[in-house]
Amino acid sequence: MDKSISKYLFLKVIFLAAGLILLSLPARAQPVSWQFDVPFVPTPYVVIEEMLRLANVTAQDFVMDLGSGDGRVLITAAKKFGARGMGVDLDADLVAESIEAAAAAGVADRVKFLQQDLFKTDISQATVITMYLLPGVMMRLRPLLLDLKPGTRLVSHDFRLEDWKPDATTQIRKNSFLWIVPAKVAGKWEMKFTLPGADSSAAPLSMVLELRQKYQEVDGIAQFNGRHAQIWESQLSGDKLSFVMVDDRDRDNEASLYFEGRVSGDVIEGQFRRGTGIAQTVHNWRAVRAPAP
Ligand SMILES: C[S@@+](CC[C@H](N)C(=O)[O-])C[C@H]1O[C@@H](n2cnc3c(N)ncnc32)[C@H](O)[C@@H]1O
Repeated sequence: MDKSISKYLFLKVIFLAAGLILLSLPARAQPVSWQFDVPFVPTPYVVIEEMLRLANVTAQDFVMDLGSGDGRVLITAAKKFGARGMGVDLDADLVAESIEAAAAAGVADRVKFLQQDLFKTDISQATVITMYLLPGVMMRLRPLLLDLKPGTRLVSHDFRLEDWKPDATTQIRKNSFLWIVPAKVAGKWEMKFTLPGADSSAAPLSMVLELRQKYQEVDGIAQFNGRHAQIWESQLSGDKLSFVMVDDRDRDNEASLYFEGRVSGDVIEGQFRRGTGIAQTVHNWRAVRAPAP
């Protein structure tokens, strides 16, 4: 192996081990509450701001900090980003400290703190979730996070969700990871649309779209005009799906079809553009989930 690569890997392992040890070190004079899933170690303010920036938090957001410690993440979200929110922590002293700190910061009307187990908390109202938790806890949370409303943003300080790749990562002193909860699109979708025909007719065409999905990564094939058609450049961000197909009905007049749509349960609706430049035409499309066989 290249010397610089092995040196990099060695350093990476050292940093990860050091990170885990750091998170398990007591941040306060009191003994660490190991009866909880994660000890209290506060996120540095510059990292909090980066996490909230990465999640694009605004005054329209409801932020939930799972394991809210001394309340600093939510107090910053309210003070600097105008958001509302709720924090839960099992440590009664930390919850009391957070409530006091929120009052002192003048944001008590926008954030609340509850002494509560994060696994027993209804997180469905969150538009943004912030976490500084250990990997095992993140993995126990993952199925609950995946069931949140598509488009919900999740940000984590230092720890990942294993094979669910982050949508964005930044490193400013520490790693911040962002995930956008993807809509569930795997399976078969039936759609009908009209398109200027190869023979200039505008007869409705039907298509069956079969999508495979791993978190926000999507690919698939379509049955179009009696043949298999490849799906290109597919992207899923929250409830926004886009992909490209080539309309090859007339070999002398092929054109790309640029699909964009929003997923809402068992329906995807949107527009697609045929071709490029001044020859481009715009059309509506609607797909419904095919009934189970
Ligand atoms: C690493 S600290 C993070 C504090 C804060 N979110 C921050 O970033 O500064 C993790 C917090 O999670 C809390 N905690 C651990 N297990 C929990 C659980 N099951 N439910 C709620 N809080 C928990 C701990 O008491 C601790 O305050």
